[in-house]
Amino acid sequence: MLFPLLMASCADSADETGAEASAPGVQVAPFGEVDGVPVELFTMTNGRGMEIRLTNYGGVVTHLFAPDAEGRAADVALGYDTLAEYLESSPYFGSLVGRYGNRIGGASFSLDGETFALAANNGPNHLHGGERGFDKVVWEAEPFEEAGRRGVRLAYVSPDGEEGYPGTLDVEVTYALTDENAFEIDYRATTDKATPVNLTQHTYFNLAGAGSGDILGHELTLHADRFTPVDEGLIPTGALQPVAGTPFDFTEPTAIGARIDADDTQIAHGGGYDHNFALNGAAGMLKHAARVTDPLSGRVLDVHTTEPGVQFYTGNFLDGSLSGKGVSYGKRSGFCLETQHFPDSPNQEAFPSTILRPGETYASRTIYSFDALP
Ligand code: BGC
Repeated sequence: MLFPLLMASCADSADETGAEASAPGVQVAPFGEVDGVPVELFTMTNGRGMEIRLTNYGGVVTHLFAPDAEGRAADVALGYDTLAEYLESSPYFGSLVGRYGNRIGGASFSLDGETFALAANNGPNHLHGGERGFDKVVWEAEPFEEAGRRGVRLAYVSPDGEEGYPGTLDVEVTYALTDENAFEIDYRATTDKATPVNLTQHTYFNLAGAGSGDILGHELTLHADRFTPVDEGLIPTGALQPVAGTPFDFTEPTAIGARIDADDTQIAHGGGYDHNFALNGAAGMLKHAARVTDPLSGRVLDVHTTEPGVQFYTGNFLDGSLSGKGVSYGKRSGFCLETQHFPDSPNQEAFPSTILRPGETYASRTIYSFDALP
């Protein structure tokens, strides 16, 4: 019992439909054990129709209930009900991703004259921090309540050399649910040796409800005039290509499925969308990155971030073989908007740097806000 004052049965927090029933706050319940270490499930409720459940195993968001215009809640996050299922097999459902979200080409990079070898866990390339990235470790966790928001502070110290990365990295991630139906994520990190850092969140959303079908009818706006084209292994070529005139132009609201099977080399490489978009606007400033609207349920997701890029992934590798929460996850049944620096930045001189040095603080903020069309 880490936080006795906040302990309560998680079962009290939502009825069968997921419509939250309890007062605003954070509740904590046991969620099982990983290698003998107990992990918890935290339930954040805002009393305004939203409830988010997360575990300190991998910082995974397991459930995210958002209301439609009539106040009907749906769980819009793909995932599982139990820890055992996350341990068994998960394509980063809801995970916190690090030390480096996305790919590093050839699973190696050079920094200050030294070459570092990483796990080649995605063909010849390195993906999402390696074999045991931040999505698979147990984080320290502490719930908090503040005026207008409540949440959980997660902390993890990644040892020097972990997964091949240099430097002890001290990471803190704050998840908060506001009274305005915003899910705010703040990332902080410091290091004792220069190291690449690129943290992100990997929730797969389906605004009609997880397991309700594909997301091809959702309409997306992406405030990105350019994207980073990739090779067959999804490693950026180094170019920044204008989206104008391509299936990657989402500068006006467009159905995700409208051009997802277009005869286009980049679409072929991703098997659909699996690309980093270079966001318009100043680096480091909080800016509107994306809006997704589901015309059927009317639910709307807005994404703001301080990051220069966002990986738009349409669940092309889901194939119905994974099921959770009583539903199965078919191809393109969820989309991810992973705010981040560009893939393979440690090997791409021209991309914004992802190198954190001793004395500096990595700071990044992303906000997923939920709304509903009348
Ligand atoms: C990557 C995909 C990958 C998925 C799950 C995304 O961030 O871009 O290629 O399949 O994560 O690992």
